[in-house]
Amino acid sequence: MEIKRICVLGAGIMGAGISQVAAEAGFEVTMRDIEERFVENGMKIIRKNLERAVSKGKMDTAAMDAVLSRLRGTTELKSAVEGADLVIEAVIEIMDLKKKVYAELEELCAPGTIFASNTSGLSITEMASATKRAGSFIGMHFFNPVPVMRLVELIRGFTTSDETFEVCRAFVEKLGKKPVEINEAPGFAVNRILCPMINEAIFALAEGVASAQAIDESMVLGANHPIGPLALADMVGLDTLLHVMDGLQKEMGDDKYRPAPLLRKMVRAGYLGRKNGKGFFQYDK
Ligand code: CAA
Repeated sequence: MEIKRICVLGAGIMGAGISQVAAEAGFEVTMRDIEERFVENGMKIIRKNLERAVSKGKMDTAAMDAVLSRLRGTTELKSAVEGADLVIEAVIEIMDLKKKVYAELEELCAPGTIFASNTSGLSITEMASATKRAGSFIGMHFFNPVPVMRLVELIRGFTTSDETFEVCRAFVEKLGKKPVEINEAPGFAVNRILCPMINEAIFALAEGVASAQAIDESMVLGANHPIGPLALADMVGLDTLLHVMDGLQKEMGDDKYRPAPLLRKMVRAGYLGRKNGKGFFQYDK
């Protein structure tokens, strides 16, 4: 089986990024979200990225137009998944919601369509259980910002078939990304290691170890990280980070993964990071 047409569910930062790289790689892409304003916002993110590439001389306008012509935004689920070989789900990290989406997809999609979740660490096996295609279900975890980051974690759930894995490996390679094989575990590999590090930086900030600027500068200059952990928290989204830490603590049953209380407090106050301009640092919206 070869993938030609894909559908991306969710037009947020991740959904838009995945749609963009897939359209750039020549795939026909339908990006679907539940409200028109979310779809518009996703298209705006993509157009801005492509225009930046054109202004830097990395792409000409004809190539940009060709990429945009392979992309369609919609709020309609039925037409979005019609004829799709692969559906990549990038909706909010709430298991019950995802399972509802998958149960709906199961009714609408052809039996051969592969379902892939871009979850940051939720159980692929549990999501697959909401469908009748456990073998054609896989985790496909992209990193933010998707157009720049080369890694994709390909996660085998308990029932993922070898065929599904190989088809998805070839698809990820066509995107110009590097797939790594992961066996399902909470947080997979990257978030299991990265998010506790960011969480520790938030504990350090709350304990007055240093200012936000000083913590970030320390990790950039002292550990050669491209950006500091608090700036990275803002980029990932404080709500997403909290979901990952809550999930790690619950699944592992180990308090070493407990979310920093300051993180929870900030999310409750509506500080979500770059996406709404307010996080550990301030951003123009
Ligand atoms: N979308 C598209 N392209 C972007 C971008 C975005 N949001 N942000 C930056 N870029 C591009 C720039 O256009 C620039 O491209 P060129 O080299 O072609 O000019 C390039 O990236 C470098 O950008 P800048 O010079 O502006 O900034 P920088 O040197 O600080 O690099 C960065 C930006 C690559 C994002 C860098 O800061 C970085 O690597 N940060 C860490 C990212 C990271 O760790 N991501 C993983 C997050 S965890 C996750 O995603 C998993 C999860 O489930 C929570």
